Amino acid sequence: MATKTKSKKAYFCKSCGNEFAQWMGKCPACNEWNTLIEELVVKADKADFSNSRSAQERKKAKPLSQIQREDNERIVTGYAELDRVLGGGLVPGAVVLLGGEPGIGKSTLTLQVAMKLKKRVLYISGEESLQQIKMRAERLEETNESCLLLNEVNTQHIMAQLEEVRPEVLIVDSIQTLYSPQLDSTPGSISQIRECTAEMMQFAKQTSTPVILIGHITKDGNLAGPKVLEHMVDTVLHFEGDRNHAYRLLRSTKNRFGSTHELGIFEMAGDGLHEVLDPSKVLTNSFDEEYSGIAVGAMLEGLRPMLIEAQALVSSAVYGTPQRSATGFDLRRLNMLLAVLEKRGGFKIGAKDVFLNIAGGLRVEDPGLDLAIVAAIMSSYLDIAIPTGTCFAAEIGLSGELRPASRVVQRINEAAKLGYKRIYVSSYGPQEDVPKSGIKVHKISRLQEVFSSLFGGN
Ligand code: TYD
Ligand code: MG
Repeated sequence: MATKTKSKKAYFCKSCGNEFAQWMGKCPACNEWNTLIEELVVKADKADFSNSRSAQERKKAKPLSQIQREDNERIVTGYAELDRVLGGGLVPGAVVLLGGEPGIGKSTLTLQVAMKLKKRVLYISGEESLQQIKMRAERLEETNESCLLLNEVNTQHIMAQLEEVRPEVLIVDSIQTLYSPQLDSTPGSISQIRECTAEMMQFAKQTSTPVILIGHITKDGNLAGPKVLEHMVDTVLHFEGDRNHAYRLLRSTKNRFGSTHELGIFEMAGDGLHEVLDPSKVLTNSFDEEYSGIAVGAMLEGLRPMLIEAQALVSSAVYGTPQRSATGFDLRRLNMLLAVLEKRGGFKIGAKDVFLNIAGGLRVEDPGLDLAIVAAIMSSYLDIAIPTGTCFAAEIGLSGELRPASRVVQRINEAAKLGYKRIYVSSYGPQEDVPKSGIKVHKISRLQEVFSSLFGGN
């Protein structure tokens, strides 16, 4: 048995990096307040999971050609939406951090993954009691007899269980509740989060086990804790959406094993989260009647084309200053589009209230939606409905010119696939051949031409 070393702690200033033996409110070196954080300098002996790697083994530098490529066998979760965002499944030894607002469905998603994976999963919850987890699991379709649950926050006890259970996948809900007894600071503090993450990372790397950590986010939408947390882990996922709507988006902001352009869509129902494999169908409506103020845009979320409805209402301002409100869209961009309409289109929209809404509670940023938004606004302003089967994909420049949306061919194909009859795009786009697919592609260079084509005259 190795001799036990005692752990030693010190306090470091986040601002200037100086080391102190005790905590102080103000750093004596740089005079900054509240910058000292506790850190471990020497660690006490901990569980070591690696039997194979000898401590004496020295690492030597070598050229790329001599490095063996490890073909990581990915563990497919069975949720296509999640697997795609992960880049093809969970990677052995990789740590995934899943962040999101409270109540968005992080615990539900990870529990569903634990149930869907027919593997030995250890689900550690510091947030909920085992009874609460059981109640949640009863609402879900899948069950997994080899999934073990543990309600524990102390990392030393967790490590002991990890050694005993040797799970194939580890899930921790949440990293902010974990507590390493080697540090005095309270759970959720910067030093605790960092230390606990490091311990989980070490377990992941030494045993080649994929680990999913749930992380809280702060008011402004960032992951709570040190920024270094995001640097440490391999993949950072964000689960987001409007809690009043059923749709939830899963994006990755960092992925060492895949692209960050993928998007996963889920729908929260009474029996857990369901994958939305065909988002265009749910984000657009087919009404019996035609309504003014609605336009469909062919947008791109990451690499995924989908059709989405923009709804606008333009009405005479009741008060002096007209109101502008946008749900799911950047208000500054809306104001810019309105200014273009006023100046380049000659429409007296400055004195009107304008309300804009994106369907499904989604937040969109794709500038390729500009034309759909302007079309919805004009449709409401003129009170003329846009014929069904019409959609749009173009960006609008400050001079009222239509600029090409990125990957326009993909957008056109998606619209054609869904049975749309015509799409308006920019004539400045790359002159790629649009496949003959039964959709009429209107290539247009100026905003005015779109209006005369849609609403006649003006
Ligand atoms: P939860 O996973 O607890 O969110 P988080 O861990 O991100 O805080 O999800 C909470 C919400 O989801 C809660 O308000 C209830 C709702 N919910 C459903 O609508 N259907 C379900 O089947 C489940 C399990 C939860
Ligand atoms: Mg939770």
